[in-house]
Amino acid sequence: MAGMFRSRVAGIGSYLPEKVLTNVDLEKMVETNDQWIVERTGIERRHVAGPDEATSDLCLVAAKRALEDAKINVSEIDMIIVGTVTGDHQMPSTACFLQSKLGAKNIMAFDVNAACSGFVYGISIADQFIRSGMYKNVLVVGAEVLTRYMNYKDRETCILFGDGAGAWVISRAENSEKNLIESSHLHADGNLADLLILPGGGSKHPQSQEVIDKGMNYMTMKGREIFKNAVRAMAHSCQEALEHNKVSPDQVDWVIPHQANKRIIEAVADQFKFPMERVIVYVQETGNTSAASIPLAFDWAVQNGKIKRGQTILLTAFGAGLTSGSVLLRY
Ligand code: ACO
Repeated sequence: MAGMFRSRVAGIGSYLPEKVLTNVDLEKMVETNDQWIVERTGIERRHVAGPDEATSDLCLVAAKRALEDAKINVSEIDMIIVGTVTGDHQMPSTACFLQSKLGAKNIMAFDVNAACSGFVYGISIADQFIRSGMYKNVLVVGAEVLTRYMNYKDRETCILFGDGAGAWVISRAENSEKNLIESSHLHADGNLADLLILPGGGSKHPQSQEVIDKGMNYMTMKGREIFKNAVRAMAHSCQEALEHNKVSPDQVDWVIPHQANKRIIEAVADQFKFPMERVIVYVQETGNTSAASIPLAFDWAVQNGKIKRGQTILLTAFGAGLTSGSVLLRY
């Protein structure tokens, strides 16, 4: 019966490209140093996609791992959602390339452009399609190749970002299932769109020599403003999830915030008195991987025996847009 179904996380997977760019490597490229980067961001290294790897290739590895973890065949997937701002091409969607590479036939596939909130947006959309009764299994991927949009002369941005992918299979839960996606809350504030933007290459400033000469083909950012808004937005999303589910911070086993900067994560945890021991921090290994950051951190935490089935997990994200949101689930 429509509207009577609930969804659960059936399987997870992730992928980090092999090549690693350390802070010491960056010292040779731009005026910065390891100590500054670690103190201000918590980042120690980030992974960089190989020359032959596009975003859909990263998606493919993560997606296959998630399907294997869920123990379902690709033919059982009803829909593919890819959260990304660094797709293979301006068009068509990276989700369509992924669909082809997976051999998933004749199902809907589309990208979500919500920047670093892309994965949380994707999970929420998948949850709605399952709750409505329309679909049983949805593949949600967050993936980015951000290093292709970095200006390695701009020390304020190039130290922050890395590449990677994470994928979840979201499936219809059996009636007796207790491990469910409980809620999602999503937001955007387009008035702050200019704080983090890739200005060139779209319809406003199509690709041209002038766009390249002005460096408009690179991501630009007002770091301090982003910092303040990130803390505010993620704290708001956490509050909303806790109130909606009538859950107190001590009933949440793990918080997984978007991995942008360790100090942002600490500030959010501080507001809710979430002890840092129950907050997943993986930014040291990956840098900011935008839509991939939450599923990458989640997978790492599962692999390392931190997150276990049956635990209550709060995801919270913010990103360019500015977008933000949260998902509360029992894993
Ligand atoms: N190495 C060395 N020095 C640097 C570097 C660097 N890489 N970058 C900046 N500095 C210098 C600045 O020039 C400045 O020097 P000055 O005092 O002589 O002017 C000094 O360090 C301090 O700069 P601040 O901007 O005040 O440093 P802050 O503590 O704010 O940290 C940072 C900067 C890390 C960018 C921080 O503001 C931040 O993390 N903001 C959020 C960024 C972010 O997460 N963006 C993406 C979010 S959305 C998404 O994920 C898509």
